[in-house]
Amino acid sequence: MSVQYVEKVYNFWSFSYDFVFRRVFASGRELAPQLLNLFPGHKMLEVGVGTGLTLPLLPRDIDITGIDVSQGMLNKASKRVAKLGLDNVKLAKMDATKLEFPDSTFDRVLAAYVVSVVPDPVAVVREMMRVCKPGGYLLIINHFCSEHFFGRLFDKLVSPITYRIGFNTNLDLYKLVERCGLKIDVLQRVDFLGNWKAVRCVNPKAQ
Ligand SMILES: C[S@@+](CC[C@H](N)C(=O)[O-])C[C@H]1O[C@@H](n2cnc3c(N)ncnc32)[C@H](O)[C@@H]1O
Repeated sequence: MSVQYVEKVYNFWSFSYDFVFRRVFASGRELAPQLLNLFPGHKMLEVGVGTGLTLPLLPRDIDITGIDVSQGMLNKASKRVAKLGLDNVKLAKMDATKLEFPDSTFDRVLAAYVVSVVPDPVAVVREMMRVCKPGGYLLIINHFCSEHFFGRLFDKLVSPITYRIGFNTNLDLYKLVERCGLKIDVLQRVDFLGNWKAVRCVNPKAQ
């Protein structure tokens, strides 16, 4: 699945995204402000900002940049930003694997429900690490494949189907963090089964 395919899929989803996914993913988004531990003046990047559903939950005294590859999703986010008067938020169309920011730009980098919809999750996390200051927080909220045999088998079997509609059920959290050279600082379950997780890592060094 290419970045162009993902872009097309989410341009299509943009019309119904809030109706379908606002509530479904709400519990993870609601955890974000607490786990990000934001201070006034912080610079934060949200990768795959989508329609901007997390933006109203964040403090107004931080400087937020939201990027997304789908113009359709960004159009919805722009309307939300304008409607709520979020003048601390900037939005831009950008591929998360090629972030157009210098190294060590942000204090916090968030990816909510993004790393399983990209063709190369390792490349996305490495870019998040590069643009985050050393000691800054990377927060990844996502579905990861089950840690139990039958759950894992199920995730593997359905992933070719779910991939077509925009996400991969078979992403292994522990392999992802290992391949990126990260250590998990905080891990919180988001759903009752524990397959949806909020994972905070401290950025070890400038990439
Ligand atoms: C499931 S949505 C999540 C949106 C939002 N974070 C939320 O909590 O609702 C995934 C988003 O990631 C975006 N995305 C996918 N691949 C991307 C990439 N390579 N670069 C930037 N954004 C990407 C999609 O366009 C989509 O808006």
